[in-house]
Amino acid sequence: MAARLKVVRTVPSLRRALELYRKSGERIALVPTMGALHRGHMALVREARQRAKRVVVSIFVNPAQFAPHEDFASYPRSFATDLKALREAKVDLVWAPPVEAMYPAGFATRLAPEGPAKVGLEDEFRPHFFGGVATVVAKLFTQVSPDFALFGQKDYQQLRVITQMAADLDLTVKVIGVPTVREPDGLALSSRNVYLSAGERAVAPMLYRVLKDCAGRIKNGEKIDRVLKVGRIEVDLAGFTLDYLEARHALTLMPIESPKDGPVRLLLAARLGKTRLIDNVGV
Ligand code: PAJ
Repeated sequence: MAARLKVVRTVPSLRRALELYRKSGERIALVPTMGALHRGHMALVREARQRAKRVVVSIFVNPAQFAPHEDFASYPRSFATDLKALREAKVDLVWAPPVEAMYPAGFATRLAPEGPAKVGLEDEFRPHFFGGVATVVAKLFTQVSPDFALFGQKDYQQLRVITQMAADLDLTVKVIGVPTVREPDGLALSSRNVYLSAGERAVAPMLYRVLKDCAGRIKNGEKIDRVLKVGRIEVDLAGFTLDYLEARHALTLMPIESPKDGPVRLLLAARLGKTRLIDNVGV
């Protein structure tokens, strides 16, 4: 009989479940999520399965990473459907704490990541964001003490911030980045895509087309500056409000002028109606 998916909601019950795995010498892979699971999240789960005997998925819509004007209250929640998908994917344990279990009354600590968290990309438009992400992910890493943790390249700056944090805090977890899962037309899967109207959904894939086109031209030797200038105009003309389209060093996320100076990553954020979309590609 297949082992049952266990759902735990308190830190002590999480500890008890993890102790059983540890006692048997089993390795643990953690996939942190905010739920509303799609094929992107499930790619992380599959990768986790490859790496460790036990897979833990956390589902927690983290209030600390939303600004007051952002969509914490309306963020899509689909717990029952999520559990069904995780059961089918043979996940062992779901860690789904209520807010009070993560941030009990009197909670007073917040990490302040720097380096890749302070490069003028997401941090410029969501200044509260990486502090909230680093704080919750540090808590998850401490609670679960995983051997591996899987994050999507979709949120590329987040992946770099967490990799840096794990190194800086001497955590033994190995942080692994998983390639972005896309719709057939190129749109990166995101829990927030449900906010797009039919018209917006039809336009949205052009962000990936622009990124790929820019990457191709840079690879062919065109100057980064010029390529990005044209890319920005294309995004504007398609009706988006562009937050940024930038070329950065793929590891430090610092500005980069030429592929001769290191690996290049193109990163973009743009708003379409009330939906904010982000995407990125390697060059
Ligand atoms: P969430 O947006 O639910 O994403 C959970 C994980 O799934 C992240 O690592 C994200 O990069 C990955 N992911 C999302 N869309 C993806 C796609 N199309 N392809 C591949 N991976 C994808 O990111 C968060 O939650 C939170 O910030 C979290 C890390 C859980 C901290 O609260």
